[in-house]
Amino acid sequence: MKKLYDADGITIYNADNLELLKKLKDNSINLIYCDILYNTGKVFDDYNDNLGAPKEAMEWYRPRFKEMKRVLTENGSIFIHCNWRLDSYIRILLDEIFGGQSFRNRIYRKHSDERGFYKNFDSQVDTILYYVKNPANYIFNELKGETLRIVPVFENGYVEERSEVLDYKGFTFNPVEHNKHWIISINKIKAMIDKNELLMINGMPYRKTYAVPIGNLWDEPDMRDNFSRNKKAEAYDTPKPSACLKKIIEIATNEEEWGEEFWKDEIKGSNLTFHENNDSYGINESNDPSGYTRMYQFGEGNIASMHSRIGSEGEFESVIDVNSGMAKPLCTQECILERLKELKTADELFPHSTTINLYGECDEKHMALYESFARDNEAEYGKIQINRIGGKYNGNN
Ligand SMILES: C[S@@+](CC[C@H](N)C(=O)[O-])C[C@H]1O[C@@H](n2cnc3c(N)ncnc32)[C@H](O)[C@@H]1O
Repeated sequence: MKKLYDADGITIYNADNLELLKKLKDNSINLIYCDILYNTGKVFDDYNDNLGAPKEAMEWYRPRFKEMKRVLTENGSIFIHCNWRLDSYIRILLDEIFGGQSFRNRIYRKHSDERGFYKNFDSQVDTILYYVKNPANYIFNELKGETLRIVPVFENGYVEERSEVLDYKGFTFNPVEHNKHWIISINKIKAMIDKNELLMINGMPYRKTYAVPIGNLWDEPDMRDNFSRNKKAEAYDTPKPSACLKKIIEIATNEEEWGEEFWKDEIKGSNLTFHENNDSYGINESNDPSGYTRMYQFGEGNIASMHSRIGSEGEFESVIDVNSGMAKPLCTQECILERLKELKTADELFPHSTTINLYGECDEKHMALYESFARDNEAEYGKIQINRIGGKYNGNN
């Protein structure tokens, strides 16, 4: 097996994970994050993401998940990154191999904003299936904040297996009497009492905690895909943001074991697992025939998005959002001209107006350049309104 990195106790192999897993000892790995085949049918430079029908895909995954379970430590966790294509099948397979009790959650990572697919909802999330080897003992580091929260530990309605009477260290509560049930296991409630975290208010139990709530929708801006669909894909086209991996490592491992230094220098620096590519935005091509939400792919440089919308006066207008760095206005204008030509050819230059929104740095001189560009091209492309927006284009316009 080829080693790509081997220093300071860290080894990175370039191998089929099944081959590597078979060489690892039982109960030796604290955390597994697995982001391999999605079954997209795409062929990349270094691998073929095609496993056939979902059933065949599961036969490919099965020996790998079995090995993963074997090598995980007793308090270890496993995060399987996948998407709508296989996530339901993988969930069932993981339940079978790890046991349904080991399932902790299904995390949704929001990878992009709406893009305007045709006759369907846009897929904006992928899935991370989170299991632990032993649901009674696993690492889950809560992130502490400044705010004290009082959170109910019960919910409405009777649920038989969540209705045990609490009678522990002076705390008593019978959920059934209130037509409630516990939202977490009674053992976790007892652990809260041990840590002096349980509070009774009007006879009802609450948790008092400084823990920051962490939901299973990971939609922070730094969780988004950040790569250009126009660029030639390197080995594959969907590098995950490092923020996603960082969150998993922080929550599911102990800091002493995975120090900040390891994160910064080895994982990030290795550029094997994560790519941080801040130079452009990706907006997919859509074929919505109405023209209303149509978005286009954009060139290498500066056009962030192009779409049509109904303007303030109730007429269609074409909108071009531009990331206008002051350094390259001419190159940007060339790019805009190309797009205008494209719109004209597609008969989508609406007579009402074309709007160019300038994001990014833009001083008076810069603005004047774009205004004269608009005047110079009015005869060919109609009235062009230039708006100076500033800030960063965030794909929501
Ligand atoms: C969707 S990419 C994700 C890579 C990385 N996590 C990222 O976000 O940039 C899938 C990766 O899995 C690798 N891969 C595919 N099959 C594998 C296998 N059997 N064992 C190990 N890696 C595999 C591919 O080479 C590819 O780099």
